[in-house]
Amino acid sequence: MLEGKRILLIIGGGIAAFKSLDLIRRLREQGASVTPVLTRAAEEFVTPLSTSALAATKVYRDLFDLTDEAEMGHIELSRAADLVVVAPATADLMGKMANGLANDLASTILMATDKRVLIAPAMNVRMWLHPANQRNLATLEKDGVLRVGPDEGDMACGEYGPGRMAEPMAIVEAVGDALRDGPLSGRHVLVTSGPTHEPIDPVRYIANRSSGAQGTAIARALAALGADVTFVTGPADVPPPGGVTVVRVKTAQEMLDAVNAALPADAAVFAAAVADWRVVSASGSKIKKDGTGKLPKLEFAENPDILATVSAMQNGRPALVVGFAAETDDVKANAAAKLKRKGCDWILANDVSPATGIMGGSENAVTLITAKGAEDWPRMSKDQVANRLAAAIAGALAT
Ligand code: C5P
Repeated sequence: MLEGKRILLIIGGGIAAFKSLDLIRRLREQGASVTPVLTRAAEEFVTPLSTSALAATKVYRDLFDLTDEAEMGHIELSRAADLVVVAPATADLMGKMANGLANDLASTILMATDKRVLIAPAMNVRMWLHPANQRNLATLEKDGVLRVGPDEGDMACGEYGPGRMAEPMAIVEAVGDALRDGPLSGRHVLVTSGPTHEPIDPVRYIANRSSGAQGTAIARALAALGADVTFVTGPADVPPPGGVTVVRVKTAQEMLDAVNAALPADAAVFAAAVADWRVVSASGSKIKKDGTGKLPKLEFAENPDILATVSAMQNGRPALVVGFAAETDDVKANAAAKLKRKGCDWILANDVSPATGIMGGSENAVTLITAKGAEDWPRMSKDQVANRLAAAIAGALAT
């Protein structure tokens, strides 16, 4: 089931670490190779020797081991795997992951990896339920970290409740699920997201209120279905998802250049709120008040329409081009007209009048407009909109 798959297994310092030795055996029985990494605390529970013997390979132990760093550094380790598994994921490791701390080999690998991460938490029930841990868990889920367990039951510390590490076979199953090829595997999908910033001078710019939340959720949902995602993002409020190729831009022109550089793609989703205009010849130095009361005059030029440009491509146009239409009135009629005008295949239309609370909020109510007509989706979270769109894209590319 896991033939040829490479698992980087980070073992945290908890009593459940003894089960991770069995996990190594079970993963290898399924055909996977396992490279173990022990935290210092883990070495209090299992020995490097037994871990190494079961994995039949070298065990990586400490960030500042110069020999290890010379042989295979933490960056390479984090990349030379198909999946990173953290078992047991202690409260400490989860806290580090959620907050971006990187002060030992395990946490540095977790920050440096471009692969999906599966955690198998294990800790005392009070620690598991502690608001700090629950906050960290919510952050990790938002970051796209996968999880198996914890189970509920008697704990080594004598208490009862959720906190036991999932059994090794359940973890093996979760590893299989994480590595299963999704319906979009082998497909390249381009996503634009966030606002653009159009400079006035080196310190001032014109922007809009897009948070990048919907585009980020779409990129994450596409990656979760196995797509190879290029995520071209303006300066957004929300961080980009894990497991995608991130290209950061500021202006509309830079976004168009990045999109052209990322093509070809099987599908493209243009979720960015691109500024319609830029300031002609932005000043190279800060515009100053000169005391005379004379006001600066800004002259505008139209920005390239990225969606329309890609939709009109004669060569190398993605098979499916999806745009957004944020409208405040006559949503469907305006969006249908936009579909024609821009030449894209689908438009996701939404009502962004202030009363809806959609702009900058966590929910969205959209209508999918295609050549076949309009399909109203019920109001749902931006994550759910993203999942539904990703599934629809997978369906369309499969036919
Ligand atoms: O024209 P409007 O901004 O309403 O169009 C929205 C759609 O067009 C969005 O999908 C947006 O990402 C895309 N767009 C673009 N480049 C622009 C303006 C809009 O790609 N310059």
